[in-house]
Amino acid sequence: MSKKKELDRLIKELEKKAKNLPLAKKASDIVPPEGNPDAKLMFIGEAAGFHEHVQRRPFVGVAGKLLTKSLSKIGVKRSEVWISNILKVRPPQNRDPVPEEIEAYKPYLDQEIHIIDPKIIVTLGRFSLRKFIPNTYISQIHGLARWVDWEGKKIVVFPMYHPAAALRNGHVKRMFEEDFAKLKKVMSNVNNQSITAEPEEEHKETTQESKKTQQLTLIENRQD
Ligand code: URA
Repeated sequence: MSKKKELDRLIKELEKKAKNLPLAKKASDIVPPEGNPDAKLMFIGEAAGFHEHVQRRPFVGVAGKLLTKSLSKIGVKRSEVWISNILKVRPPQNRDPVPEEIEAYKPYLDQEIHIIDPKIIVTLGRFSLRKFIPNTYISQIHGLARWVDWEGKKIVVFPMYHPAAALRNGHVKRMFEEDFAKLKKVMSNVNNQSITAEPEEEHKETTQESKKTQQLTLIENRQD
């Protein structure tokens, strides 16, 4: 089955199960992921907002516009990437997702990742960051690419601030822009080398998640 067919089937299943999923009453409450099924680059945000709920498309409000503009600045079209969220619904008053909600939508996001099989996952905000790298803060690791061993796959995870946070704070916006420039470098480095190569010993970290993650040597370390 083609990736497109598998993803269409997954989205149909999600819509069919909507009544049993948190914060959804009907199929049209679901905001499905979208993009290129063959994408090498995948973005994972938090949850739909007002505009996403109305249009049933991820990242189409102001934060989405910043994301689309930032992508075009590095020469990437929105239609080339895959865009998804931790929750496929809009939480009331755009509140943070709660653990049971994250858990309920997890099987769908996990299947998407398996189908798309991206080389790089960009996490937007802390909820998607902590799916791959638990117990960390964006302020400490944004803009630093890492190898993550996720369900038997080696994926490069690139943590970024959420674009909505960038819109609220000028300092965060600058870091968001700088991280996009770094993402461009990471993309070309990942394309130019085998990403299945074992990371070098000397870069192993000492934190608990060091067993599962490895910071790439592709870009320079930031001073935290
Ligand atoms: N914020 C998100 O995290 N996701 C969207 O789709 C829109 C805004």
